[in-house]
Amino acid sequence: GMDERINIAIDGPAGAGKSTVARSVAEALGYIYIDTGAMYRAVTWSAREAGLDIENDEAVTAHARKLDIRLAPGPDGQVVLLGGEDVTSRIRSRDINLHVSRVAAIDGVRIRLVEMQRALASAKGVVMDGRDIGSHVLPDAELKVYLTASVQERARRRHLEAGDALGISLEQMEREIEERDRKDMGRAVSPLLQADDAVLLDSTGIPADEVVSRIREMALEKLAEA
Ligand code: DC
Repeated sequence: GMDERINIAIDGPAGAGKSTVARSVAEALGYIYIDTGAMYRAVTWSAREAGLDIENDEAVTAHARKLDIRLAPGPDGQVVLLGGEDVTSRIRSRDINLHVSRVAAIDGVRIRLVEMQRALASAKGVVMDGRDIGSHVLPDAELKVYLTASVQERARRRHLEAGDALGISLEQMEREIEERDRKDMGRAVSPLLQADDAVLLDSTGIPADEVVSRIREMALEKLAEA
């Protein structure tokens, strides 16, 4: 029925527009948006800040277990708080882009963050974006979308968004996105993959608002069935 609430999982590679789309879908439905990539970024930032060797799984896991990570609504979207400190913009740096896939491959880090993610979704009514949400974090999510786009288009979008701030060329951005995809798809624990029951949505050449309305339509269908 229409007064039920569902969970929506949006997975896909870097730069596919997941966060923009997930945020808008959440807003349209009055749901809570949860950016799980921001959680892996926050752990990476904090580990680097503490001077840890990110190749040391035990040290990074122990560090991650001590962290107080919170996602809160802010005036320009979601704010990431680490021990109460706002690290929202610091976790989007090139240094974090280059190291986050390594930290996200650590089993102990994933166990800790997945536990938090499941707790956040337990009351339903969330739109969660990431890499393993439909396949692992929320296998029972009523709607699963695998959002992708060509690597050229994803690099172009990221470059438009943050290119100057990151100080790299479009070609370099394309190479770094490909490298991150390779690591995220190739890791042993919960790699990026399209869940069997996920709807594939290739957004190459499709404007974001069109992608949002398609997902919203699918969510309304699921709600009608629920
Ligand atoms: O979506 P993003 O670019 O902010 O994600 C940053 C990194 O975190 C990405 O390279 C892979 C990792 N990640 C993950 O392994 N699992 C998730 N659910 C979300 C992100």
